[in-house]
Amino acid sequence: DSCLFANIIIAGAPASGKGTQCEVIKSELGVVHLSTGDMLRAAVAAETEVGKMAKDFMDSGKLVPDEVIIGIVKDRLGESDCKENGWLLDGFPRTQAQARALEDAGVSADCFLFLDVPDEMLVERVVGRRTDPVTGKIYHMKFSPPEDEEVLNRLEQRSDDTEEKVKVRLDQFHANVDAVKDSYTDIMVSIDGNRTPSEVSSEIIQTINRMTSK
Ligand code: AP5
Repeated sequence: DSCLFANIIIAGAPASGKGTQCEVIKSELGVVHLSTGDMLRAAVAAETEVGKMAKDFMDSGKLVPDEVIIGIVKDRLGESDCKENGWLLDGFPRTQAQARALEDAGVSADCFLFLDVPDEMLVERVVGRRTDPVTGKIYHMKFSPPEDEEVLNRLEQRSDDTEEKVKVRLDQFHANVDAVKDSYTDIMVSIDGNRTPSEVSSEIIQTINRMTSK
């Protein structure tokens, strides 16, 4: 299965574990991981035109306008690495307009994985999350702290990872999630994300294998 070609969408609430699971999926399948959150954070850091447009929305926990993000994703999916290796879309589509834009562009996925985690678990995951700026690896101060002291000392916290901002992010998620799911009823698989990361990963890998071998 190591050369399996797959186009995958992964969705779920803020801090449901998308980024954590994408690390595993990417290393197992060799697909190109496209996180719209990571792409936008990189644009903000580099102070590009897109970054300047996106910054205030992201800082307040709101979604950036569809017209800002849609073009970026369509362009990226058209690049040769995505065509050759398959892709893993993380954090997109998040609105009905984004789902329609993919469909209109003729982009289709093999499966739509939905990570299901109750809201009350998400706040604790958000406030404890830290990222290693060197490797990009995601940690949690309680659930998965780094073992290496050097890594511990360089961990960073995202500016939108506060209890106040996660409430806004959750509202945005709940306002859009049903419309997005409705666009993928035929390929959607709901995964219980309220288990250990490795339990979640093994179900995800099995699901992808099943959905892509049809
Ligand atoms: P984005 O970066 O996509 O943020 P998000 O959807 O809020 O998702 P997160 O990155 O917070 O969480 P995750 O699901 O990846 O969880 P993780 O694995 O890190 O978007 C940020 C912003 O960009 C948006 O608010 C918006 O402004 C903008 N944006 C992005 N895409 C957009 C779009 N398409 N349209 C418009 N705007 C867009 O895990 C979280 C924590 O939990 C970690 O600490 C982890 O260690 C821990 N954890 C993970 N799994 C488990 C487990 N099984 N058990 C216990 N702990 C766990």
